[in-house]
Amino acid sequence: MASIQNHNIVSSHNMQTISNIADIRNIIKAERQKGKTIGLVPTMGNLHAGHISLVAQMQQHADIVITSIFVNPLQFSPNEDFDSYPKTLKADQEKLEAAGNHYIFAPSAAEIYPEGSASKTLVSVAALDGILCGKSRPTHLTGVATVVTKLFNIIAPDHAVFGLKDYQQLMVIKQMAIDLCMPINVIGAPIVRDEDGLALSSRNSYLTAEQKQIAPRLNQILNYVKQAILAGEENFRELEKQTMQIIEESGFKPDYFEIRTQNTLKTATIADHKLTIFVAASLGKTRLIDNVRFATDEKNN
Ligand code: PAF
Repeated sequence: MASIQNHNIVSSHNMQTISNIADIRNIIKAERQKGKTIGLVPTMGNLHAGHISLVAQMQQHADIVITSIFVNPLQFSPNEDFDSYPKTLKADQEKLEAAGNHYIFAPSAAEIYPEGSASKTLVSVAALDGILCGKSRPTHLTGVATVVTKLFNIIAPDHAVFGLKDYQQLMVIKQMAIDLCMPINVIGAPIVRDEDGLALSSRNSYLTAEQKQIAPRLNQILNYVKQAILAGEENFRELEKQTMQIIEESGFKPDYFEIRTQNTLKTATIADHKLTIFVAASLGKTRLIDNVRFATDEKNN
């Protein structure tokens, strides 16, 4: 059973939950002295199979896996679900322990933002910020880049893994690591889906039974458009326009549906061969995102 060693470190069997920066740094220092490599899995908790797959992925890269759980106020705008975001630390601890995770870093907001979430320093990957989610949620990606920078500076991992579902977020973090000379291998992990194709997300728990029937349509629509492109459809802008309408007719409030280049996130044309199709749409109050990545010279899709 869980036993409290001191007021900041809670240990259950092999896994410890650490809530302050000094303690996690000491632990990492000791692990490094033993020659261990460190992998970070940043999360906001309320863990599902997608998160657990990130831990499994990280176990292939690093000796010690640290999962951070922190609902980052800076990446929510005032009208979003920060206050109601599910906090399920005990269940998360059980899942992570069963998955063989080594340490949880679960700081308080005051530990990460001692001066309040009006952080004086912000990290923004400006070139990737004004599009897709960055357009509809203007402060979101800056909030993500800022907190991930803090986590990278606290943990100093060799590797960090992020899900491909948030593909724009992954590209922002990869670019940030390159531009700010962070010596961290940023890994993208495959999207984990329900059997019906719905990409796993902590926010899926907000969906009503009826909305759960509709939600998998997003992934079906992405695959339909991918097949249309592979079959030779050339007018991407028309395809985007028509698909926005289909998304709306399926019961969603569409935010964007865009065909972009995979590496630079530029608006794609048929001259581009590596593509990502991005979608964001709401069902009631729940905002869902998904994407599909492919090369137009792929065979047997
Ligand atoms: O993807 C998430 O869960 C969050 O955006 C992250 C990367 C943990 C930063 O708060």
